[in-house]
Amino acid sequence: MSTFHTADPGFDWRAGELRWPVTSDVRPGLSGVVASGTRVSWLDPGSGTLAYRGHPVQLLAEAHPFEEVAYLLVSGELARDGAPAFGRFRADLRGSAVLPDAVLALLREQDPTTHPTRLLRAGISAVGCHEEGSGEELSGERHWRELRILGQVAALVAHIARIRRGGPELRPVAGASLAELVLAGLLAGAPRPEQVELLDLLWVLYADHGMDAPTFTSMIVASCRADPYYNVVAGLSALRGERQGGATERVLELLLSLDDADHARRRVRELLRANERLPGFGHRVYRRPDPRAALLRRRASELCARLGCEPLFEIAHAIEQEAGPPLSRRGVFININFYAAVLFHVLGADGPLIPCLYAVARTAGMVARVREALEHGSRIYRPRSEYAGP
Ligand code: ACO
Repeated sequence: MSTFHTADPGFDWRAGELRWPVTSDVRPGLSGVVASGTRVSWLDPGSGTLAYRGHPVQLLAEAHPFEEVAYLLVSGELARDGAPAFGRFRADLRGSAVLPDAVLALLREQDPTTHPTRLLRAGISAVGCHEEGSGEELSGERHWRELRILGQVAALVAHIARIRRGGPELRPVAGASLAELVLAGLLAGAPRPEQVELLDLLWVLYADHGMDAPTFTSMIVASCRADPYYNVVAGLSALRGERQGGATERVLELLLSLDDADHARRRVRELLRANERLPGFGHRVYRRPDPRAALLRRRASELCARLGCEPLFEIAHAIEQEAGPPLSRRGVFININFYAAVLFHVLGADGPLIPCLYAVARTAGMVARVREALEHGSRIYRPRSEYAGP
């Protein structure tokens, strides 16, 4: 951290004065900098608390499907089945999960080996071109209000999953929940209720996580008043990188490359000796176990025992135990992605598809925060750089 003085003075027109010199701290990665106020979620890295609109995320995940939590994030109200406002929201959300034929054709025209996150990025841009009014109404407030884009992202992921697995074209069932829709794309037949419940649980845990890179990126784009399609493409692009949501793909790659728990322990020692980063470990804000990880570990253990995939869980657990002591000394613990990768795999996803599944959930948090910022007339983001040249 260093202090600098800039030759570009801050001008406060309300005070009618130039404030000189402008002084600021430079924090790599904006670490610890508060960039906005919010009522959407509360994240306390010290105690490991994560709550959406005041509700602890673990309780929400066990008791509420994703669509109810999306409603909570956006409206601030806990959804009650049968409440007219929530009923309308859910019907609109599900109704928006339909893609124009031209977008479906665009997805199908691509090489089927294209990375699914690339298809998702192209698909969101293409949907934006088809949205009536998105050309003129740049702030896109109608779209934010209707939350159409969340349904559209889910529909894109469902179709991308089906294209990736091959087989007949996906014919979405009208009125299906977003989790049912995406699982229908992923699986050969209709999803079972416990699969729907598991995807909803994963999505609830992934729905919002403060000002992480994807959400912050989308807030920057929103502060310029670009429409939601530019915004979500930008936010989800940040999610793709291997230090962020892309880590889920690396976790699964690692797990599937190992024969058993002994092999896992040997591989961890090799990776740490080589000073490599283990995917699914470490976090920008937590210096303690990620509060979402314990719940996922328990789910993964139960599910693998029930479905006969214990070896996969044992490999994951051996990695966690072997890496735990050396990494915890540096404040590095497993993050949400570690056991989530196991669970997404159990649901039928291959590694490259997992960031897309994550993307559906995070779109809800991004939409909630952008709406909140637009309602409060957020100022355009504009930090400065510390000049170190000649
Ligand atoms: N494996 C081994 N060592 C690690 C790991 C890891 N996964 N993560 C951090 N470290 C080490 C670093 O090498 C560093 O050691 P050093 O001081 O000797 O150089 C120390 O721990 C501190 O690391 P930072 O770079 O300060 O961690 P930072 O907070 O900047 O990065 C990040 C966080 C990017 C998540 C990092 O931990 C990482 O790359 N993890 C692996 C990828 C991953 O799982 N990302 C998902 C994050 S969660 C999410 O996005 C939902």
